[in-house]
Amino acid sequence: MSQRTKDILSKMTLDEKVYQLVQVTTATYLTGENKIDVITGPNSTLKLDRELVYEVGTSLNLVGAETMIEAQTNYLNNSKKKLPLILMQDVIHGHRTLYPVNLGVSASFDRDLARDLAQMAAKEASLDGISVTFAPMVDLVRDPRWGRVMESSGEDPYLGGEMAKATVEGYQGDMGKYNIAACVKHFAAYGAAEAGRDYNTVDVSERNLREYYLPAYKRAVDAGVKMLMTAFNIVDGVPCVGNKHLVKEILRDEWGFDGVVISDYSAFDELATHGVSENQKECAYLAMEAGCDIEMMSGCYAGYLKELIQEGKISEEQLDKSVLRILNLKEELGVLDNPFRSVNPEEAKRVQLSKEHRALARRGAEECAVLLKNDNVLPFSKDVGSVAVIGPLGNTGEIHGSWKCGGKAEETISVVEGVKGILGDKVKYAQGCQIEYNSTDESLIDEACELAKNSDIVILCLGEHQEYTGEGNCRADITLPEVQYKLLDRVLEVNKNVAVALFSGRPLAISRLHETAPAILDMWMPGTEGGNACANLLFGNAIPSGKITMTFPRTLGQCPIYYNHYTTGRPKLEEDDYNRVRFTSSYLDIPNSPLYPFGYGLSYTTFEYSDLKLSGDTMKSGETLVASAKIKNTGKYKAKEAVQFYIRDVKGSCVRPVKELKGFEKIELDPGEEKTVSFEITEEMLKYWTREMKFEAEKGEFHVFIGKDSTCKPFATFQLI
Ligand code: NOJ
Repeated sequence: MSQRTKDILSKMTLDEKVYQLVQVTTATYLTGENKIDVITGPNSTLKLDRELVYEVGTSLNLVGAETMIEAQTNYLNNSKKKLPLILMQDVIHGHRTLYPVNLGVSASFDRDLARDLAQMAAKEASLDGISVTFAPMVDLVRDPRWGRVMESSGEDPYLGGEMAKATVEGYQGDMGKYNIAACVKHFAAYGAAEAGRDYNTVDVSERNLREYYLPAYKRAVDAGVKMLMTAFNIVDGVPCVGNKHLVKEILRDEWGFDGVVISDYSAFDELATHGVSENQKECAYLAMEAGCDIEMMSGCYAGYLKELIQEGKISEEQLDKSVLRILNLKEELGVLDNPFRSVNPEEAKRVQLSKEHRALARRGAEECAVLLKNDNVLPFSKDVGSVAVIGPLGNTGEIHGSWKCGGKAEETISVVEGVKGILGDKVKYAQGCQIEYNSTDESLIDEACELAKNSDIVILCLGEHQEYTGEGNCRADITLPEVQYKLLDRVLEVNKNVAVALFSGRPLAISRLHETAPAILDMWMPGTEGGNACANLLFGNAIPSGKITMTFPRTLGQCPIYYNHYTTGRPKLEEDDYNRVRFTSSYLDIPNSPLYPFGYGLSYTTFEYSDLKLSGDTMKSGETLVASAKIKNTGKYKAKEAVQFYIRDVKGSCVRPVKELKGFEKIELDPGEEKTVSFEITEEMLKYWTREMKFEAEKGEFHVFIGKDSTCKPFATFQLI
């Protein structure tokens, strides 16, 4: 902590210090009709003092350079201490130029892309006056019902960590003018909500927590993330914001995190709703004791922290530490010297949605899309006479995804617009059905079939509405609505040249689609340039290279289903997948295998893996081995491939996962070209939380795998001696 911030602190009153820990909506500081009044407005429950509200430390949620300038100006004009606000916002998958939802970004298996996209978002946001984003969300997820899977990197701790690091680096860079501070969230295990229902109970063992859930947050911390947000859920019976074990013992003491910790929205008050505190005063006490610095949108600190300090229940030193962290962040962001930081309405207009930014968002959407099935339908030839785009998601900009920040549907390219960009007037559209999950209206199908009959090819845009994922948007049924299947079946009766462009923020249970559709291209929610990216992929201007980072189940009944599960005592053999073998861990009615496994994704070209090698068959502590493979592009198109590297720890003092991703590399090969890809095996990579809960590598046998997805077979074995 700098001398400057310590000097500032030494001149602050107790009230002023407490209010630095309070966060309210930025609209509180607007003038005129958009202002939210603290006494009479919707935030009156925060019980803020009319004067002290101008000593609040940080604010959230507002987009637009002019409004940000207005808020900061008004705040400073009324503030006694004149310590500028830090303006925060959820910049999740882009600011004004949106790129694919984060589950899609992880499917690119491309760290550089994830970094570049976050950097673009940071630049656009910084010009609008935003200094901190509440991202990345790195919660590991195994349940596709959960609406927030769209914000995550899926089911793998290593991949999640790599994406977390790249994203933090993209946002924060060297904390220059166009960078913003990142806030990793939601600490911890928010993605483990039972039954995939947002805000629901979480129950994970310490071992599971450390092995699967914590690594990605740690990776963000190690990458220098400036802030961390606690989760709404409980861990081991204690809500995270008041969870001393998580925040104090693990985050602060074990990992050495000295950045700012913020609660999630009104999570302080929810300590009482959870039933672990009696009133707001106790909520303030529990959160302070756990180590939470900023209270987002509830009134516990503002109302009771001063009293707790005067009563000697919380020490003033403890408060000072929190205030210093916030002042330190202000200093790092430069707002102590320049309250307006990088805000610049004119430059914002030039940069946001610029040609360069749209091009990057488009490339992002192309690299994130996953080709799930292709019976020689794709890529379509551009020499077609007529194209039908059919489906409720074909002619809408509402494919940019939930958490849109400053993005707008009217600025988003629809599939129709994208395909017209390539084929002009040859393209016609019919809606075919409604998008609502409960719609049974079949009245639009005839017209769509008429169009399909008179067209050479059909692009069928199916899936979910973009607001069926995102916060609070969970679903108990993750299949496609019956009416969408009816539309598909009827279209196929008149035209077999059909490719489905699938839009959703989550993995869907689409076994029936897989059986009937000739080709399926998963676009996720692709962002502002979605329609152009989709068209480029369908017509071969871009080659699909994404691979799924969450397993697609055959049916919801298999969930949670994920590749890196623990070994069981009665495993079902893979070769018996379709047979009924009673008294093994299996189902009577379906195989154990998923519809599409983790890491799966097709291309228009083919890749051949050969010459798989391991540099030795023993490894001493402190030594390394190298695993390598040759990958050849044996098809017709220049294309990218995400090469995956897995390890299995065969025996340990605790049961180990059947396979764990330990490395990946995205390579690009010309037709006929071959490359060798190598992965170094280090002892660090083999460590896990042993029976004594020590993070160690245990001696013994390990299996090594390199392949195109998580179903690849081991090619070598080594002993750690
Ligand atoms: C609640 C969400 O859980 C969190 O992710 C978000 O950052 C805050 N609201 C602020 O919008």
